[in-house]
Amino acid sequence: MKVIAINGSPRAEGNTFHALNIIKKELLNEGIELEIVDFGTKAIHGCTACTMCSQTKNERCIIDNDMVNETIQKMAAADGIILASPVYFAGIAGTMKCFLDRAFYVSSANGGLYRGKVAAAVTAVRRSGGSHTIDGLNHYITYGEMVVATSSYWNIVHGRAPGEMLLDLEGVQTMELLGRNIAWLLKMKDKAAIPQHSKEIRVATSFIR
Ligand SMILES: Cc1cc2nc3c(=O)[nH]c(=O)nc-3n(C[C@H](O)[C@H](O)[C@H](O)COP(=O)(O)O)c2cc1C
Repeated sequence: MKVIAINGSPRAEGNTFHALNIIKKELLNEGIELEIVDFGTKAIHGCTACTMCSQTKNERCIIDNDMVNETIQKMAAADGIILASPVYFAGIAGTMKCFLDRAFYVSSANGGLYRGKVAAAVTAVRRSGGSHTIDGLNHYITYGEMVVATSSYWNIVHGRAPGEMLLDLEGVQTMELLGRNIAWLLKMKDKAAIPQHSKEIRVATSFIR
């Protein structure tokens, strides 16, 4: 089994990365692979609202000069997905937001590429804005009909300088438990092997008609 983690920090080995590494260790203990894909370090254009993905339905964003399309396919093939971002001005870091808008619009246009996958949101913060950022990341996860893995606290680690989150012992413990809970959910799903019901065609009312 394989999990893909999107690291939205421009600091490739910052606190978000360290949090993901703790989860990785727990997953490896359970025989589950975790691949960390760095997005924060890349130049990623935001969604241009061209709606081409809804027209072509080829699981691709029309902007094809970055890692987004390749990563959409990695996420579609994975058993689990972790969305991780540092807190920037009490919200999701900009590059990560650009990626998520495109990756989840393409998913939605293609019947939900990540439906039923186990998912978790993770964030790193110096002081405040962690809950708001987790909520923001969970908007993508819950829109995508995914199965949310949780811990015994919200999935937030504290630190400023890269690696400082390792001093946040409660944060470390929260990540360890999150890793074990992701593994548990993945194994439960695998053992049950119950096919997911088919996707409904959305009644899109846009509140006007
Ligand atoms: C542009 C920017 C905005 C930030 N905004 C916040 C914030 O709103 N609240 C906060 O507590 N920390 C904020 N921080 C600090 C980071 O969230 C913190 O250093 C975090 O550990 C970074 O994670 P990383 O090492 O994975 O990049 C900000 C940092 C930057 C560079």
